[in-house]
Amino acid sequence: MTENIELTHQQKRAFQPQKLSAPRDFTIPSVIKNSNSNMPLVLEIGAGKGKHALSFAAEHPDKHLIAIERTRNKFEAFTKQFEQRLPDNLTPIHADAIAWTVHALPPNCLTSIYLLYPNPEQHNLNQQWLNMPFFEFLLSRLQIGGTVILATNIDTYMDNAVEQASTVWALPNKRYKIAIESQRTHFEVKYLARRETCWELVMTKPQGYKTRFDDWCANNV
Ligand SMILES: C[S@@+](CC[C@H](N)C(=O)[O-])C[C@H]1O[C@@H](n2cnc3c(N)ncnc32)[C@H](O)[C@@H]1O
Repeated sequence: MTENIELTHQQKRAFQPQKLSAPRDFTIPSVIKNSNSNMPLVLEIGAGKGKHALSFAAEHPDKHLIAIERTRNKFEAFTKQFEQRLPDNLTPIHADAIAWTVHALPPNCLTSIYLLYPNPEQHNLNQQWLNMPFFEFLLSRLQIGGTVILATNIDTYMDNAVEQASTVWALPNKRYKIAIESQRTHFEVKYLARRETCWELVMTKPQGYKTRFDDWCANNV
């Protein structure tokens, strides 16, 4: 079983973390530096205006969420909300999540990763998270038993993600239809109000899972 897990995704072109510079004004948040913290660490990529991040932090005081958004005006809207409540278990980051993850996170440190409504250009398959070589690096930062939660309103994105999760990444996964009353993110609210079907895929990193980045650390981590 372990051998198959290694072979399938290791036939893919490898991501090259050493080629990525650190984001501008990069510093590693204290929650990562502080190895004494026993709080489970959760990552959200593409947090938008932070609706999910702020509710997650309020609902899970025992977990620390790092929520990354690269678009300036969305991040500013996020920080405005953040500053009104200042939850100490939430760290908003304004950066590209790929470079940031490479430079900030050690292997095996996350218990969950949220990718909510990534919405790339519809026809650009290379922009879908599970099609990217970076996805292997992201999985190396996830603990065994940890989950990646992907949501989308695009049927073809979800169909492809299910296929990739099973055949390339060998991740046990479950697909769900999101309840019409769910309101986790601004995009979820918008799509469900239009009566579009929204999907969620929950992927789990199984025992024995190996990636080519399990021992890879940026110099500054
Ligand atoms: C369609 S929006 C969804 C925002 C939010 N998750 C929601 O559902 O309301 C996708 C967001 O992902 C962000 N994003 C895409 N790629 C990113 C990356 N590599 N790093 C950080 N943010 C990214 C975009 O800037 C955009 O705000």
